[in-house]
Amino acid sequence: MFSIKIELADRVKQLPEYIFAAIEELKVKKEREGMDLISLGIGDPDLTTPEFILNEMIEQVKFPKNQNYPASMGEEDFRTAVANWYKVRFGLDFNPENEISNLIGGKEGVANIARAFINPGDIVLCPNPGYPVYEYGATTLCDGKPYLMPLLEQNNFLPDLEIIETNILKKAKMMYLNYPNNPTGAIAPINFLKKVVDYAEDYNFFIVYDNPYSEFTFNDYIAPTLLQINQNHIEINTASKMFCMTGFRCGWVAGDDYLISGLRKIKSQIDSGCPIFIQKAVIKGLNEYKSEKKPEFVEKNMKIYEKRRDVLINGLNEIGWKTEKPQATFYVWTQIPQGKKSCMDFVKNLIEVGVVITPGIGFGQYGEDFVRFALTQPIERIKEALERISQIIN
Ligand SMILES: Cc1ncc(COP(=O)(O)O)c(C=O)c1O
Repeated sequence: MFSIKIELADRVKQLPEYIFAAIEELKVKKEREGMDLISLGIGDPDLTTPEFILNEMIEQVKFPKNQNYPASMGEEDFRTAVANWYKVRFGLDFNPENEISNLIGGKEGVANIARAFINPGDIVLCPNPGYPVYEYGATTLCDGKPYLMPLLEQNNFLPDLEIIETNILKKAKMMYLNYPNNPTGAIAPINFLKKVVDYAEDYNFFIVYDNPYSEFTFNDYIAPTLLQINQNHIEINTASKMFCMTGFRCGWVAGDDYLISGLRKIKSQIDSGCPIFIQKAVIKGLNEYKSEKKPEFVEKNMKIYEKRRDVLINGLNEIGWKTEKPQATFYVWTQIPQGKKSCMDFVKNLIEVGVVITPGIGFGQYGEDFVRFALTQPIERIKEALERISQIIN
């Protein structure tokens, strides 16, 4: 233990207590007691990285030049592959020189873009419920002020821009937006995206469109990018979910060159980029795209998630827990059953019967009445989870 009393920085003190501590404790206790826990909590794919991507990585790691420091903005061939991907996937042209950059996973870009543009007191518009990094890792740790935009069921989990006060909009510098959405599974119609871009122009803020689930869509739905409306903003995407590569830490940012140059300035001071052999492997995956349609290996995974989604949703409805099917992501966001008081207590009750899901409050105050399932278990385990859930909700 450090013997001199050094206080944490004020901005760090503002971070919330670790909300999942009580849940983690209970999980550990149950595991020690020998309970078989079915984890539908974390959004980490159980499906594995495609073999052709892994093989490329193994080949590439052998080259000594691929063992050196990467450029933090990403290798030229990586940026070019991302530019090609935007061309075939969305029909958009980006210059790999200055309109594309590599990221050490999307999370890094989401956090560091705030470092580049947010001064103390600047307002950042953050969806709530939402990926917690928008509010904390990005805004709070840059001494910015998060303004929470509630994502409510009655608005299809889209923020209601009209209720944001004009003085807030005028002071806002940046907005985070994420569709297909974690945790709600909601998607954003093009008209909505147009409206947000209009707001951004009228009030002079920029949008960070966080799009890690762009390929996690069901049926014939093809998710757009906000950059289709115009390219004055940035989009962040990642190999994490698309190619089941969460552990490899490789993402990218595309869009406005001035915004990207700000991010590059920050990154050049604090990181040395994603390993070259990982970038090379991700290029292999990106090159499989020949049109806006998902390549077969991505489609195959989505079919697996779709079946799991259907088993879970049908099962929940059968046991009386009314839940709608999301059109995208591998999450199911649903209101806690009637009569249950708090999502935290409800999740703890579920752990008692061996099912782990995420309490909605973990994504912010507007998630309080909800829970999130991640479809990261095979169908048999999901069926088993349903059996167990039925014990406590009936
Ligand atoms: C909405 C959202 N943004 C960003 C990320 C970060 O992804 P990664 O850092 O693995 O690319 C995640 C991961 O779960 C996410 O759900």
